[in-house]
Amino acid sequence: MRLIFYFSFVFLLQNISFAQNNAKIEALLAKMTLDEKIGQLNQVPGDISTGTDVKVDNILVQIREGKIGSLLSHTNFDNKIIMQQVAVKETRLGIPLIFGFDVIHGYKTIFPIPLAQAASWNLKLIENIEQVSAMEAAADGQNWTFSPMVDVTRDPRWGRAMEGAGEDPYLGSLIAAARVRGTQGRSLSDPTTLAACVKHYAGYGFIEAGRDYNTVDMSEQRLREIVLPPFKAAAKADAATFMNAFNTLNGTPASMNKHLITDILRGEWNWKGMIVSDWNSFGETIVHGAAADDEDASAKCLNAGSDMDMAGGTFQRGLKKALENGKVTQAQIDEAVRRVLRLKFELGLFDDPYKYLNKERHKTNIEKKEYRTLARTAVAESMVLLKNNNDVLPIKPTTTKKKILIVGPYADSRGNKDYMSFWTLGLGMRDYDSTKVVTPAQGLKPALEAMGYEVKVAQLGKNGTYDVFAQKDAYEASAGVDLIIACVGEQGMNCGESRSVADIHLPGNQEEMLKTLKTRNVPVVMVLFNSRPLVFNWASENIDAIVVAWQPGFETGNGLADLLTGKTNFTGRLPITFPRNLGQVPLYYNHLSTGRPQTKFGTLWTSGYLDSETTPAYPFGFGLSYSPVDYSEIRAERSTIGNDETFVANITVTNNGKMAVDEIVQCYIRDLSADIARPVKELKSFLRVHLEPGDSKPLQFNISPEDRSYWNQDLKFKCDPGQMTLFIGSSSEKVKKMEFNVVK
Ligand code: NOJ
Repeated sequence: MRLIFYFSFVFLLQNISFAQNNAKIEALLAKMTLDEKIGQLNQVPGDISTGTDVKVDNILVQIREGKIGSLLSHTNFDNKIIMQQVAVKETRLGIPLIFGFDVIHGYKTIFPIPLAQAASWNLKLIENIEQVSAMEAAADGQNWTFSPMVDVTRDPRWGRAMEGAGEDPYLGSLIAAARVRGTQGRSLSDPTTLAACVKHYAGYGFIEAGRDYNTVDMSEQRLREIVLPPFKAAAKADAATFMNAFNTLNGTPASMNKHLITDILRGEWNWKGMIVSDWNSFGETIVHGAAADDEDASAKCLNAGSDMDMAGGTFQRGLKKALENGKVTQAQIDEAVRRVLRLKFELGLFDDPYKYLNKERHKTNIEKKEYRTLARTAVAESMVLLKNNNDVLPIKPTTTKKKILIVGPYADSRGNKDYMSFWTLGLGMRDYDSTKVVTPAQGLKPALEAMGYEVKVAQLGKNGTYDVFAQKDAYEASAGVDLIIACVGEQGMNCGESRSVADIHLPGNQEEMLKTLKTRNVPVVMVLFNSRPLVFNWASENIDAIVVAWQPGFETGNGLADLLTGKTNFTGRLPITFPRNLGQVPLYYNHLSTGRPQTKFGTLWTSGYLDSETTPAYPFGFGLSYSPVDYSEIRAERSTIGNDETFVANITVTNNGKMAVDEIVQCYIRDLSADIARPVKELKSFLRVHLEPGDSKPLQFNISPEDRSYWNQDLKFKCDPGQMTLFIGSSSEKVKKMEFNVVK
């Protein structure tokens, strides 16, 4: 009762403040000239560039003239104060600026990349990371982050796979909402939170051939079922803003795609926020060949429902002409300006334009010790154990001074944003302080020495060029050791936007290095630093233990040491499929059956390859731990239910190992007789269960009518009677299953 009262009260306050803001917005709008309005829709880059060349002459003069409503990618704190002073004190109406920034996996304290965070399947952890990231960025004068990136993708070639939550729309939706919650907190006007920007709307993860900015073409059914759910979840979580995608979707550039913006986002979902273009994506409609010039591009983007122009200056050059020539109306421009002003009001910038430029918070809220602690936990929860032959891991204490070698291009690397990504802009572009990263060697060496080992470190190769080190170096370094930890993978700077690859094998001659090390006939542990699924079949067959470490950020070495020494158990699970061959891409767990599914390699007349298995190297949801967990058979009181009823299933999980573990129990369904063909498995739910050694816990999963619904032939979202399969297990492949019937 009290809670209901509390929420009603909060709701009432929100409504009052919404109405008050509306009145203020209208009063302001009535005073604004057309040029001032167009100025509010213009966002320009600050002191770092995150895209194609854009020349901005004398920003202060432009701010003074009311031509700039927002800046992005500005790092310098004191300059932001100066700019805000000019906007507030030296322009006719004193409208404050809003500062946007890409805070992707931390601002000053760098966390694991978003794809790695997704591997934790830990929503609370992800929310906390966003909260800390927002706190640091807000303390540095940022108001708005271009995050979360919620693009579902099935393509490891795409450099931006690292920014998302992987291939599954359900997991992706939960993570999208958690990120919005973490970023925005309870109130946008809280100066320790940021406004979120959900991107890239929409379809960007499905670019052809994984080549950045390329074409996207897909059925409405796939769009609604796979691509849109995380966007919808973020909109529902009240994300303040959205960003257009660069790509065309079914021929129409996303920035001028009325179906996406006006029909679905603002129409069906009734979302009220502001939409910013991507970097010059209004202007790029001309390059796509979908608009004739700035005037045409401006008209088409505004007509579709987009509001603010990032970096391109297209609105500055073309919107006035579009109005004069009757291609847009004054009311449409006013509506876009209203949305921008509303955001500024909601952030509290009109009450206090320097709210986020507080010198005290700037000193105290950045790089706190507890942020590091959270980062270390995040590293340990995001790494995934793929193989562990003969229990090589965890490494056990020794009394005989055994020797361990930590070796490879990522053993103790400095530079190239190794263990991080291009998207660590809060650190600066290239001149960041690399000593803030705890490298694998720095974390592992003391931890292993404390367990009685003699530890040797051999950092091979420089500046990410793997071919410069001779195999001889690896061979010599490994003489006389008892265990080898080989740190391989990708350069940090090679992860992120515009960093797609056409070959997803381990880069350079790293596999050769592994082969050389293996000739020593001692156990080899491979630790992979990667931003995407890579292909490493030789290692899968020959290396004793394999850890997917992703790009883990500042606490790399400490989190890794916690796991390899068994201080912490592995819980991470792959949020994206790892293929055996690039030729299998796109390869994803929730595919359709085809009329001729292949069950055995080499069977002609089935859907397969002559030269490769169709199955993945490692499937979605997969990850080992140090404690084997057993799953009972699935039990259900009723195996037949009505179409409007929920199916209830039970299973018991038991920890048969010697260490406590957090098991991620996954629940999938298959609709065997729907109106259209349905995926062979769809993730519908998962539970994270803590199990002490010997613990057995009963779990319940509920499959509601909504869980069983899909977009049918008439593009209606509904469920229907028929036979279904329920799967519960530790990955998308290792499952127990049970059939159930849905009747009218
Ligand atoms: C382009 C990227 O696609 C987008 O994700 C980012 O937020 C902007 N540049 C700003 O840096």
